[in-house]
Amino acid sequence: MATQNLIPLLIILVSAILACVEAQTSDQTSWAKRNETEKEVITTLQFYFHDVVSGPNPTAIRIAQAASTNASSYLFGALWMIDDPLTVGPGPSSKLIGRARGLYGSVGQTDWGLIMALSYVFTDGIYDGSSFSLLGFNPVMKSGREMAVVGGTGLFRLARGYAIANTYQANANGDAIVGYNVTIVTYV
Ligand SMILES: *[C@@H]1O[C@H](CO)[C@@H](O)[C@H](O)[C@H]1NC(C)=O
Ligand SMILES: *[C@@H]1O[C@H](CO)[C@@H](O)[C@H](O)[C@H]1NC(C)=O
Ligand SMILES: *[C@@H]1O[C@H](CO)[C@@H](O)[C@H](O)[C@H]1NC(C)=O
Repeated sequence: MATQNLIPLLIILVSAILACVEAQTSDQTSWAKRNETEKEVITTLQFYFHDVVSGPNPTAIRIAQAASTNASSYLFGALWMIDDPLTVGPGPSSKLIGRARGLYGSVGQTDWGLIMALSYVFTDGIYDGSSFSLLGFNPVMKSGREMAVVGGTGLFRLARGYAIANTYQANANGDAIVGYNVTIVTYV
């Protein structure tokens, strides 16, 4: 075969190699990297949330309201700041495993409902220092109410999931002990 006939072949070969290199490097950019080897972890949690609004030592205090709030049967427009203990069992002396800190506010005009914007911060065992963030509507008079877990820190980094809450005990003042079942997906 003459040398002249080899030149077009060489050009095709080099072009093909260059196209391959281009295809490989276009998966990565200087500003974003993908790693598809991560594995999911599913964590389920069960604990009790102690919300005290009455008496000398409330864990939830009303910090703001609208002029019309007290005329509303459902305190529409009131906002509370909370620091509620989280325990393993429902009893007051049950082991403390963390605290729920943040805000909830009355959003129901025709029935009871709270918008929850809270960080559940744990202090026990391997979860010490880890937290998840909960954001969602809480129809407090219903059983099996569901709220979204929208993020987290520490072992709950990149969390997504949901919480199912059931009132375990409540009194006429509005103090309540609420059972939580939480399912969280994170990555290894
Ligand atoms: C992808 O993630 C895994 C697990 O974290 C890690 O072992 C591996 O080195 C990562 N690969 C790259 C290319 O960063
Ligand atoms: C509404 O009621 C609360 C609790 O009884 C009271 O502290 C607050 O001052 C009242 N607010 C108004 C605007 O009347
Ligand atoms: C979690 O869900 C189970 C099954 O419905 C229930 O028996 C349990 O009491 C719940 N835990 C809490 C803390 O509410």
